[in-house]
Amino acid sequence: MSRSKLEKFAENRTFPNFFQWEGEDFSPEAHFPMRGHWHERFFRNDHPIVLELACGRGEYTVGMAERDPQRNFIGVDRKGARMWKGCKYSVVNNMPNVAFLRTQIQYLPCYFAEGEVQEIWITFPDPQPRNCKENKRLTSEYHLSVYNRVLAPDGTVHLKTDSDFFLDFTLETLQRLQLPVLCLQRDIYRNGMPDPRLEIKTYYESMWLEQGKAIHYLKFNL
Ligand SMILES: C[S@@+](CC[C@H](N)C(=O)[O-])C[C@H]1O[C@@H](n2cnc3c(N)ncnc32)[C@H](O)[C@@H]1O
Repeated sequence: MSRSKLEKFAENRTFPNFFQWEGEDFSPEAHFPMRGHWHERFFRNDHPIVLELACGRGEYTVGMAERDPQRNFIGVDRKGARMWKGCKYSVVNNMPNVAFLRTQIQYLPCYFAEGEVQEIWITFPDPQPRNCKENKRLTSEYHLSVYNRVLAPDGTVHLKTDSDFFLDFTLETLQRLQLPVLCLQRDIYRNGMPDPRLEIKTYYESMWLEQGKAIHYLKFNL
């Protein structure tokens, strides 16, 4: 029988690599104790930190961590019951370069200091097609300004999406902000994968592939 959400929330709290704000006193100005100290207090190395935003079950977080022990990976999502799966896997498989953080993405600067993050992956975000939801899109101007507060100056952002609408919205945003596109590959399963990490498949990606959708990849910096 599958575990209930409450059981997963409870087990998340027992994992040494699962982080969330405990208590009622969160404010957008707050600083999480690990902020600016992830290297020495948790990873105990100085390897680059890579975030997977909207990580869901965390397939990219654990998949990239298995391929690359010389980097640290943190999956970020607001849904603890989804992250439980990736977090449990990382604990059972004793992966020292993996953590999970439950928070709203817009609060990243409460959890990471300026320049503390080297790479951001955004995997299959909700496209939020209604105009009034534009700010909620994870590559909106608002969200890019949030990422800019934690990303290293030479840091990169990677987007993997099935949504033509979301890809075009992101390209328009980058053009308006005069930000450089470092790589754009439409339909990676037909045209090739410019980064070997694109072979990792997420839960949503598997669903879209079954429906015959094309998957796109975009890399840019801020
Ligand atoms: C469509 S799912 C994709 C999950 C996973 N990346 C995959 O491909 O299977 C989108 C995820 O984004 C998360 N999400 C959306 N907006 C968020 C926000 N502002 N802060 C944190 N998580 C968010 C949701 O909780 C959900 O897990």
